[in-house]
Amino acid sequence: MRFPAGFPITLLGLAAQAPLSPTTPDPVQSVMATQRDFKFKDDSSIFSPLDLVELSRPGAGQPNDAGDLALVSVSKYSLKDKKDYKSIFIVPIESAVQPLEVPLASGGEAFWLDNRTVGHAVDEGEGKDKVKALYARSFQFETDSAIALSVPDTPKLVGKFPTSTAGNFRLSAEAGVLVFADYVHADGDLTKAKENDEAWENRGDSAFVYDETFERHWDTWVGPKRSSLFSVPLARSTDGTWTLGSKFTNLLKDTGLKCPVEPFGGTDDFDVSSTHVVFTAKDPKLPAAMHTKQDIYVVDVHGQSKPRELTSGKQGATHSPVFSKQGDKAAWTELDKDGAEADRAKIVIYDLKKDVRYTLTQHWDRSADSLAFSQDGELLYFTAGDIARIKVFVLPVPPTPAESTTDPDLPSEYRTPVALTSSGAVSGAQPLSGGRVLFTRSSLTSPNDLFVLRGLQHLDVRAPAAFSPEVQQLTRFSADALEGKSLASGEDFWFEGAEGKKVHGWLLKPPGFKEGEKKKWPVVLLIHGGPQGAWEDQWSTRWNPNIFANQGYFTIAINPTGSTSFGQELTDAITKDWGGKPFVDLRKGWDYILENYPEIDPERAVAAGASYGGYAINWIQGHPEFGFGFKALVCHDGVFSAAYNGYSTDELFFFNHEWGGLPWEPEVKATIAKFDPMNYVANWSTPQLVIHGSKDYRLPETDGIGAFHALQERNVPSRLVIFPDENHWVLNHRNSLKWNYEVFRWFDKFVGSDN
Ligand SMILES: *[C@@H]1O[C@H](CO)[C@@H](O)[C@H](O)[C@H]1NC(C)=O
Ligand SMILES: *[C@@H]1O[C@H](CO)[C@@H](O)[C@H](O)[C@H]1NC(C)=O
Repeated sequence: MRFPAGFPITLLGLAAQAPLSPTTPDPVQSVMATQRDFKFKDDSSIFSPLDLVELSRPGAGQPNDAGDLALVSVSKYSLKDKKDYKSIFIVPIESAVQPLEVPLASGGEAFWLDNRTVGHAVDEGEGKDKVKALYARSFQFETDSAIALSVPDTPKLVGKFPTSTAGNFRLSAEAGVLVFADYVHADGDLTKAKENDEAWENRGDSAFVYDETFERHWDTWVGPKRSSLFSVPLARSTDGTWTLGSKFTNLLKDTGLKCPVEPFGGTDDFDVSSTHVVFTAKDPKLPAAMHTKQDIYVVDVHGQSKPRELTSGKQGATHSPVFSKQGDKAAWTELDKDGAEADRAKIVIYDLKKDVRYTLTQHWDRSADSLAFSQDGELLYFTAGDIARIKVFVLPVPPTPAESTTDPDLPSEYRTPVALTSSGAVSGAQPLSGGRVLFTRSSLTSPNDLFVLRGLQHLDVRAPAAFSPEVQQLTRFSADALEGKSLASGEDFWFEGAEGKKVHGWLLKPPGFKEGEKKKWPVVLLIHGGPQGAWEDQWSTRWNPNIFANQGYFTIAINPTGSTSFGQELTDAITKDWGGKPFVDLRKGWDYILENYPEIDPERAVAAGASYGGYAINWIQGHPEFGFGFKALVCHDGVFSAAYNGYSTDELFFFNHEWGGLPWEPEVKATIAKFDPMNYVANWSTPQLVIHGSKDYRLPETDGIGAFHALQERNVPSRLVIFPDENHWVLNHRNSLKWNYEVFRWFDKFVGSDN
């Protein structure tokens, strides 16, 4: 450090070293010199960051086998208690009985053991003695009794796992085994994991040594352990007592396969039938950081056989493998090309009886997400992003072709998925008996709630227009907390973007906004990350557009070139063009808004973005000719040096795909030189807040620090906020509050109403 501690760095007069350009603000105006208190707008009708942090966070609903109860895990943070309260809700699907809340004092993971019993896995013991214990909790549920839904028994211990890291449970009741994920050392032996942990801890130094990537991934340095799938006997005796066996079989032993696939894999990465487990794993022959190829395998649920590959070997990534309930078919989603991660995800079905594999949605211009067979195996339900919503779709399962093919000749009813929902964002469709589907959905105005679709037995896929599904909402987890809050449901707008394409955006008006009024409103442009992502009709606990609207900003969230859910052409068009078409789109969308909403004050415009959105902020900094006229910017975990990212990021395949090759290749270098924010620092002049998480290994913190140093050396008002314990996302509740505080304080300083 060149300066004595405590010396006001911003006043040091870097002016002596760097000549002030006419656009460079007076350093005395810098943030350090004008710091003052800031308070959120927070009256009873405002949905403020304080409300966001304390609002219930429900997960996705899991139905029981009978389809009359669903299980939902919910967490709820209390600012006063500084505690995250965890509970499960048991939700009746077919009666008006109120959901039952069961608090889980020590948290843990819950799943159905049978129609009236929930398995609850929770940590027990301290330090080295900590293990996961499994309990059974039974419920009584009588629709015609006054008690209705209750917990008659105290939880009963079912058994213990050798480690505390066992998780992602899936029961095969027919096989009498529980399949789960855990981490093991090279010997693959779960019962030795703790012993091996201790040896590793006591190795005498703290070094990590690598001969291949990943050395670190997302937010974790890769240690000596690998994820794997295990099975253990779990059965119910005639008196109803559940017992966990003590033989833990590593289903992937000596294969080099890892499942779940880190960092985000979970129960979506595998499924169980009465005899087998189907799972996805990265191709063990390929260096993980440079490839996205994942293969699908089946393995005997008792680990009696080696895994057998079901994929062709010519595919890219695969996700969401599932079995039909009959166990005769598996399905998954598949990308064509290795190296890509935002390519079109197509549905593939594998007939396990005939050993024939065929692609179902070869000609559908959307990407299927999570899959589920109907109970009779005749339909396939799945979710997919579609025009800034995530909907439930259905397709009938066609007769298996004579041989494996990626493009079977299918009649039209097998080609065009039918949308069963139209709004919000669905996070998993669970078929129930009797033509019903349970699903979980959030929107711009609400976190998750459970819904049930009925009457699907009457759906004729050849005439889907004749069918209108009956949808019933089963829970209202947030209704009380959101009562009286001015949440905007979001209005779609469309405009002509780059190359004449139709581009979509959302606008959210601030509470109190009146058309044609004299009052002028400040405006914020939010730029999403990915870049292959989208602003959707979905709730977010991190970047929530309604938080911006409720702090008094006319809020614009555009889905420019690169965005998903509008067809693959728009998604793909950002490749090698990071600083090109998306900014034509953003600028045209901005014009559209300013032309159509004279209530907006263009002199009080600000913008914010994270990840690719942070790249966009740094790119806008360097390009005053775009003419947005922003008075303040916020860059969270954004790209400063695209050139260096080619080497410093964890998932190298992403860079190689986006920039069209390896970072030292002449053509790639030329593209980067053209679109690297760092190359345009000479133009930076807009006040900017830089936020970065130190455990962000996707875009290491030096990108945030580099941008901050650039701003400081140019005497541009700037501030750096570092979260030492956060990754690419700010997840801790109090850090989230601090994040919102710093963002709105920054905007308020430059465009606040009292300025
Ligand atoms: C759950 O209920 C369904 C429908 O009543 C029944 O068919 C099934 O056998 C039950 N499952 C168990 C494990 O008891
Ligand atoms: C600065 O911005 C101008 C347009 O205002 C642009 O033409 C130029 O390339 C930029 N130069 C640098 C070095 O950032």
